[in-house]
This record gives sequence, structure tokens and C-alpha cells, in this order.
Amino acid sequence: MSEHESPIKTPQQLIVAVVLAFVVPIVVIVLLTVYVGSRPKMGAGSDAFSPEATAQRIAPIGRVASGPEAAAGGTTAAAVIRTGAQVYSAACAACHTTGALNAPKLGDASAWKPRLAQGLEGLYQSSMKGKGAMPAQGGGRYSDEEIRKATVHLANSAGGSFKE
Ligand code: HEC
Repeated sequence: MSEHESPIKTPQQLIVAVVLAFVVPIVVIVLLTVYVGSRPKMGAGSDAFSPEATAQRIAPIGRVASGPEAAAGGTTAAAVIRTGAQVYSAACAACHTTGALNAPKLGDASAWKPRLAQGLEGLYQSSMKGKGAMPAQGGGRYSDEEIRKATVHLANSAGGSFKE
């Protein structure tokens, strides 16, 4: 067979070639249509099965929002940051309300006066790393921010005027 000879030699082959050239693209288009149409359909305007709608449906009924979460309308999933007073009563009060281990007491201005002089940063570092008989409080259970708030709560009870 020479190079310029057509592979189509008989009228039957010609008919088969013409029919295939017509049918194959149509089959491809039909398959594409079926593929696209096979995705889950939802009623017009309904997003009942979107991840957001589902999350909203199964969300717990009551939740406590504070800090940035409350500011965002209580819609973010961010961890709730406890207030300085909450952290204080859970983690600091044992020593600082009772004066155990000679801890400077909540509201005791004369005990705090010399300590306040070092500023919030120094007090915060003591809270985080520990000082004397006070163990480091930063480990794990409370975030750095919460320890900072508790430090402010404690210092401001005794004459400090720091901002959280
Ligand atoms: C186990 C007892 C104990 C606990 C719990 C405790 N403290 Fe203290 N804290 C102390 C003692 C004792 C001191 C005095 C340390 C010194 O000056 O030697 C102190 C001192 C401090 C000071 C002053 C540090 C300085 O540099 O003068 C700050 C601020 C403070 N505590 C914050 C906190 C905060 C905030 C918490 C809770 C997250 C906390 N403490 C929990 C015992 C405790």
C-alpha cells in the first residue's frame, strides 16, 4: 500500500467511517452530560446539605461565648478564652487569696507595691516561669493570654492599673 492510499477501500468501509465520525462525538457528549448530572441535586435555593447548614443543625444548644468569640457574634469555633478572674480563682487563688507560702495576697496593696514597680511584663514573666515558691503557671492548662489576664487581675486588685 503506497503512502497516499486511503485505508478506506470499499463502500462499506466508507459507510462505517462516516457513521463512526457522527456517533462517537455524540456518545461522548451524552456520557459527559450524565456525569455532570449525576452529582447530588438540591431543591432550588436549598442549601440544607451544605457543611455549614449541617454544622448549625448539630451544634450544641447552649454555649458560652467570651472574648473574641463573643465579639464575632459567637459564630467562630475558636476556643473560649477565660477571663482573668476565672483563671485566678482556678489556678492562683489557692496561694494568693490565702497568702500560703507567703504569696502576696489579692488586694494587699502594701505587699504588691514593690512588685508592681517592675511593670506588667516582669510580673507576667514571674507568673509564666515561676518565682521563689511559686511554680511556673504557664504550663499547658492555660494559654499565655489567660495567664496574662490573671496576672493583671491580681495586680490590679492591689493598686496596679494594667490593661489586659
Ligand atoms: C503554689 C502557690 C502559688 C500559686 C498557685 C500561684 N502563686 Fe503567684 N506567687 C506565689 C508566691 C509564694 C509568690 C512570691 C514569690 C517571691 O517573690 O518569691 C508569688 C508571686 C507572684 C507574683 C509576683 C511576682 C514578682 O515578680 O514579684 C505574681 C505576678 C504572681 N504570683 C501571679 C500568679 C498568678 C497569675 C497565678 C495563677 C496563674 C499564681 N501567681 C499562682 C505563690 C503562688
